[in-house]
Amino acid sequence: MALLQVENLQKCFGNNKVLKGVSFSLEKGQVLAIIGSSGSGKTTLLRCLNFLETPDSGEIIVNGKTLFSAGTKYTDDQIRENRLHFGLVFQNFNLFPQYNVLQNVTLAPSLLNKGTAEELDELGKKLLAQVGLADKLESYPCQLSGGQQQRVAIARALAMHPEILCFDEPTSALDPELTGEVLRVIRSLKGEDSTMIVVTHEMDFARSVADVIIYMADGVIEEIGTPEEVFDNPKSEKTRAFLHGFRESF
Ligand SMILES: Nc1ncnc2c1ncn2[C@@H]1O[C@H](COP(=O)(O)OP(=O)(O)OP(=O)(O)O)[C@@H](O)[C@H]1O
Ligand SMILES: [Mg+2]
Repeated sequence: MALLQVENLQKCFGNNKVLKGVSFSLEKGQVLAIIGSSGSGKTTLLRCLNFLETPDSGEIIVNGKTLFSAGTKYTDDQIRENRLHFGLVFQNFNLFPQYNVLQNVTLAPSLLNKGTAEELDELGKKLLAQVGLADKLESYPCQLSGGQQQRVAIARALAMHPEILCFDEPTSALDPELTGEVLRVIRSLKGEDSTMIVVTHEMDFARSVADVIIYMADGVIEEIGTPEEVFDNPKSEKTRAFLHGFRESF
């Protein structure tokens, strides 16, 4: 059984139909990379999966359990609970500026009573070591580089043990020399237990890390397949044009 099943998600903002029926599934441990031009609906899709937007129609099913089905009314508590299946790392890090690095990582699990202060400190230190920031526990976000801030944001998302970790262009706010350190961390998370969805313009990264590539265009999945299928033998003319334009611009 797929870990994640997305069925016919649709979302409008006013008259602007941004998602026009998006369906896909993802197995546990797989990495999905979503590519596509600006405005194609990538962020909206991630925000729907994280219950930050409410789709107009469709279903979101995790581990066989329907977390969202359009038309059903959900309480705030249900939405909060459903959101815990997913983690989201934003383009602009969105750390809490008033808290130090360790506190940024432990805040959410401590609010949800996920362990004693000591246990959560241990967890936070372990995760920060995993992203290469063992020496920055007491620093504040403003004292860190963008790449370091993004690595804190990744540790913070991991601290909630999400079943599916989503990244929305995690390196697009970073200088090229800081991009590598963040991509290395994401790459290192790939394994049995972490299922990831990464919206990215880093095509080499997508090709080497992802099991599945989705190319989105105008609110639909224009093409889905393995990296070899999508990058080397795209079926759709639109995908070919997008990839060609992308290569030209670099
Ligand atoms: N909260 C909102 N209210 C109204 N329109 C929105 C909202 N969020 C997104 N849109 C519109 O939805 C469309 C898709 O936006 P989205 O952010 O999902 O695209 P994207 O693929 O992530 O683009 P980019 O690569 O630039 O990040 C755009 O036309 C955008 O203007
Ligand atoms: Mg976006």
